[in-house]
Amino acid sequence: MSRPVPAASGPSAASCSRSWTVLELLRWTAGHFAERGIETARLDAECLLAHALGSSRLRLYLDFEMPVNDAERAAFRELVRRRATLRIPVSQLVGRREFWSLPLRVTRDVLTPRPETETLVTAALALLPAAGTAAPRILDLGTGSGAIALALARERPDATIVATDLSEEALRIAQQNAEELGMAKRIQFAAGDGFEALAAGSRFDLIASNPPYLDPARRGELPPELAHEPELALFADESGLGMLRRIAARAADWLEAGGALILEHAPDQGDDVAEACRAGGLAQIGAHRDLGGRSRVTTARRSP
Ligand SMILES: C[S@@+](CC[C@H](N)C(=O)[O-])C[C@H]1O[C@@H](n2cnc3c(N)ncnc32)[C@H](O)[C@@H]1O
Repeated sequence: MSRPVPAASGPSAASCSRSWTVLELLRWTAGHFAERGIETARLDAECLLAHALGSSRLRLYLDFEMPVNDAERAAFRELVRRRATLRIPVSQLVGRREFWSLPLRVTRDVLTPRPETETLVTAALALLPAAGTAAPRILDLGTGSGAIALALARERPDATIVATDLSEEALRIAQQNAEELGMAKRIQFAAGDGFEALAAGSRFDLIASNPPYLDPARRGELPPELAHEPELALFADESGLGMLRRIAARAADWLEAGGALILEHAPDQGDDVAEACRAGGLAQIGAHRDLGGRSRVTTARRSP
């Protein structure tokens, strides 16, 4: 196939007069992204073209030979330019990311929910009292887009959920997601720093958190996409362990007897998080691996 001029520099007169099919555009764009070092080149090309066409990735496969008109191609070209040159994440370009099969709204104000956080949701569900017994009370501390709170709300319709964040902008997105998914009445949103967002005397059967845990000193090693996500969602003091330690230190004060804490963290932080949980008076420390086999989630319980 002959290659059009790079999408970033716009079509030449010759490439404008030629008609491009879905498959041709996908192949060219995947090659362009790969040359730019984007690891998920084909997937990203599919997501962006589906978005530009108002279609779905599945539908693209049925429409491979369909010609793409000039207006659609212009919209796609702009998305490709922003992805390739500015390294804006696909989730922010299309405004959505699926998490736990929930189509969540995503903007620059929230961390794009990651697949590894689904490991936390799976483990969290196993920690809750069985459905049909007491209705569980759950805290999602640092809710961002609302991913964890909404996934747990979807799985446990009997649960009462509080979702907090220090960022008012993030809470607005989380609330919008809850409304769009018809779960707003079941989740109470509260702004504040850590446990300070909570009403005095609140107690939970489960405290879940995916707090910021990256080490600011390693900022230079991170993928360029992270520059588009909120600093507050990414970095923590004490080499990334600060907020994990603060949560572990105080969780027992907010847990029911026998209640559980579950924390997501970086693969090399498991021992430190386990130690922080023990120091905070918690027991029954457990570790869970993500789909890549890396230790990403630590669980602990307040003694009954
Ligand atoms: C890694 S993101 C996780 C977002 C979401 N829970 C998820 O799993 O996709 C961490 C979240 O914690 C929030 N956060 C950071 N510091 C906080 C603090 N001191 N108190 C409450 N929330 C905080 C950030 O604004 C961000 O939304």
